[in-house]
Amino acid sequence: MSFRLAQRLQGLPQPATIAMSAKARALKAQGVDVISLALGEPDFPSPPEAVEAAYQAGLRGDTKYPPVGGQPALKAAVARKFIEENGLSYAPDEILIGNGGKQLIYNAFAASIDPGDEVIVPAPYWVSYPLIAQMMGGVSVPVVCLEQDKFRLRAEGLRRAITPRTRWLVLNFPNNPSGAIMERDDLEAIAAVLRDAPHVMVMADEIYEHLTFDGKAHVSLASVAPDLGDRILTINGMAKAYAMTGWRVGFCGGPAALIKAMTSIQSNATSGICTLAQAGAIAALGTPASGRDAMRKVYQARRDLVVSRLRAMPFVTCAMPEGAFYVFPGIAGALGKTSMGGRRIVDDVAFAETLLEEAHVSVVPGSAFGQMGHIRLSVAASDELLVEACIRLERFLLELS
Ligand SMILES: Cc1ncc(COP(=O)(O)O)c(C=O)c1O
Repeated sequence: MSFRLAQRLQGLPQPATIAMSAKARALKAQGVDVISLALGEPDFPSPPEAVEAAYQAGLRGDTKYPPVGGQPALKAAVARKFIEENGLSYAPDEILIGNGGKQLIYNAFAASIDPGDEVIVPAPYWVSYPLIAQMMGGVSVPVVCLEQDKFRLRAEGLRRAITPRTRWLVLNFPNNPSGAIMERDDLEAIAAVLRDAPHVMVMADEIYEHLTFDGKAHVSLASVAPDLGDRILTINGMAKAYAMTGWRVGFCGGPAALIKAMTSIQSNATSGICTLAQAGAIAALGTPASGRDAMRKVYQARRDLVVSRLRAMPFVTCAMPEGAFYVFPGIAGALGKTSMGGRRIVDDVAFAETLLEEAHVSVVPGSAFGQMGHIRLSVAASDELLVEACIRLERFLLELS
């Protein structure tokens, strides 16, 4: 076959999150009772108001090509959300609606990265930032955030990573996979570093903003440092806070010139977002906060359940996640040991693979997120499943020799 892969795709790894789900699916297809805690997907239904609004939009004939950048009514709802919840004021030409947060990340990097440009990504990180940056010819520069720092980005680490080639800093807090948050003081220290580096743009991916625990609230960098507003892109979406992953609606606010370039990329890739999904998003954004608070309480209780069990297990360390719906325990103490089935646990990838094969629990190895010696468990699953997964994990660890 004469097909040849484009150079920029050569050497691009498969996200391990997808590889682990594929393995788990294959085992399930063989009839094995696998508990999958590998995916980052809420286990709640979407708000009925969104479903009804999408249905009504279809009946009323709202089924034609929408404007590329988003329907004016959704942009207005997003502008309201940014003002009320984040203290950020964006005009319509500073807002873009995309096919999920992911397309907005793609658009932003496609609009701004030249070969060799650097993107600073605090580790652990969601897999897509380095992969998309690499697809654009960029170089991803990880800055390790430590478990003893509660996985928060420290200003000194950021300062050391900045070079003249730095184009972006990605700030994803609450963080996938660690569940870390950044409080006002942390953000002020980051803003001080950024003031000395006027060539650096910031992608603040706040998609887990409503999932913060213990009474702590999310704070937006752009509200802490309004003077940096012209180089901050604030990304958010309907997927996590509203359990609307399949609707594919994300939104962002940022400087008009960047939004214009991102809109032009979207225009050439997908055009505007599904009209029915946009109607659903408007309705969901108008629902009372009590719906999100109820989900947040459930996630917090599950986090407490899983962390307390993990902390009682041998070889495991576990920081308390303060947001999102993941737990990111350290399993370095188990490395070098041998499983019941005779497999040597040489690293976190072997740990996750052996756990899946022998204990039938699917998790993602930390190295997929740029942090070896950890695994990520999603707590977006029922208490019953989480308890059973913990029982299996503990047995697996106790049987290591
Ligand atoms: C940190 C982070 N940002 C963005 C996204 C993408 O969300 P969406 O489904 O809106 O594309 C995800 C999805 O897992 C995520 O974890």
